[in-house]
Amino acid sequence: MHGKTILLIVGGGIAAFKSLELVRELRRAGARVTPVLTENGARFVTPLSLAALAEAPVRTSLWDLEAEAGMGHIQLSRSADLIVVCPATADLMARAATGEANDLAATLLLATDTPVLMVPAMNVRMWQHRATVRNVATLRHDGVTVMEPDVGEMACGEFGPGRLPQVPAIMESIADLLDPTPLPLAGRRAIVTAGPTHEAIDPVRYLGNRSSGKQGFAIAASLAAAGADVTLVAGPVALETPDGVYRVNVTSAREMADAVAKFMVPDIAVMVAAVADWRVDAAEGKLKKGDGGPPPLTLVENPDILATTGHGANRPRLVIGFAAETGDLLANATAKLAKKGADWIVANDVSAGVFGSEDTHVHLVTRQGSEDWGPASKLTVAYRLTGRISAEFNRDK
Ligand code: CTP
Repeated sequence: MHGKTILLIVGGGIAAFKSLELVRELRRAGARVTPVLTENGARFVTPLSLAALAEAPVRTSLWDLEAEAGMGHIQLSRSADLIVVCPATADLMARAATGEANDLAATLLLATDTPVLMVPAMNVRMWQHRATVRNVATLRHDGVTVMEPDVGEMACGEFGPGRLPQVPAIMESIADLLDPTPLPLAGRRAIVTAGPTHEAIDPVRYLGNRSSGKQGFAIAASLAAAGADVTLVAGPVALETPDGVYRVNVTSAREMADAVAKFMVPDIAVMVAAVADWRVDAAEGKLKKGDGGPPPLTLVENPDILATTGHGANRPRLVIGFAAETGDLLANATAKLAKKGADWIVANDVSAGVFGSEDTHVHLVTRQGSEDWGPASKLTVAYRLTGRISAEFNRDK
């Protein structure tokens, strides 16, 4: 944190005195500290002691015209590498969560695009009150990092969460925000297929399957959360696109194959879609009930997207397929490794009715053998698989 500038907002709480220790540690680590004291903060620590430790003038009011002429509050809020609010009181967090600008501290928080760390300290009841819980959730949703307070005895004699975290823990959070650890799949590109495909019988009817798309969407979301650049080729499902994921909607297996070829990536392919093995030689007009009984459906084989990817010339470094089986789970999945040119197969026993459910039970099958991942939610499977993919790409680090 050497050479970095921290704008430190000290709120009005009994823990304010500990901000002095934080200033001393920041200065020791070579950071510049620009201190701001709220009106109530000044009831707990004096501007003089804060200024002396920070070796910088303290701003306390929006209406300090002399200070505004030096560095206006807008510039002040943007000149820092990080804004730290310590202690972050219930009141200050409430005002920041609703976007008020009724004093210098709140205005700085509203006027900035700099990362913000809030270090809460308050009475346990105040911390656990629904209003505070709501405000903390809003702040986190808005991208603010809110530390969890320590649990212990409070100044007021009560016991529970609400104590200011220890200064070394605060320093650690500050260091992390100034120099974040890179995400494990940063710079990697992934393609994921998900959902069913619909194969037209005529303009109004189709052949489909029960895939909900939940597993594929969860995998796309977890890969994106791990820093990968994700393209999700989705069959017809009404699921929300995960944050940071580029979605391409398709209907039929052939459209899915075309989209996968078009958006193919060098690093990771996870084929989760329940692609229809056959399409129908579709009628141009709507089939009508006639005297000759039901019309015959002529089935034509669809391209195997996973096999085309796994055996293709532009094969990604890691190709992962899914296998839905109702018997001989491991033998069938192992056979699919070679048949599809996949590195791993996530084998799923679908005899127990996992379609549409939140839960599943998979085995990870690789050339080295298989692992039983036990019953788990599709979200857990997604995060576990992403963990394995991350490990694969960071083996040499
Ligand atoms: N898959 C694909 N394209 C197809 C069929 C399947 O990409 N036309 C992919 C699926 O996304 C999945 C894997 O292949 O990752 C396994 O599909 P599975 O359900 O086992 O079907 P099949 O390969 O057709 O095997 P079988 O019907 O013999 O069990």
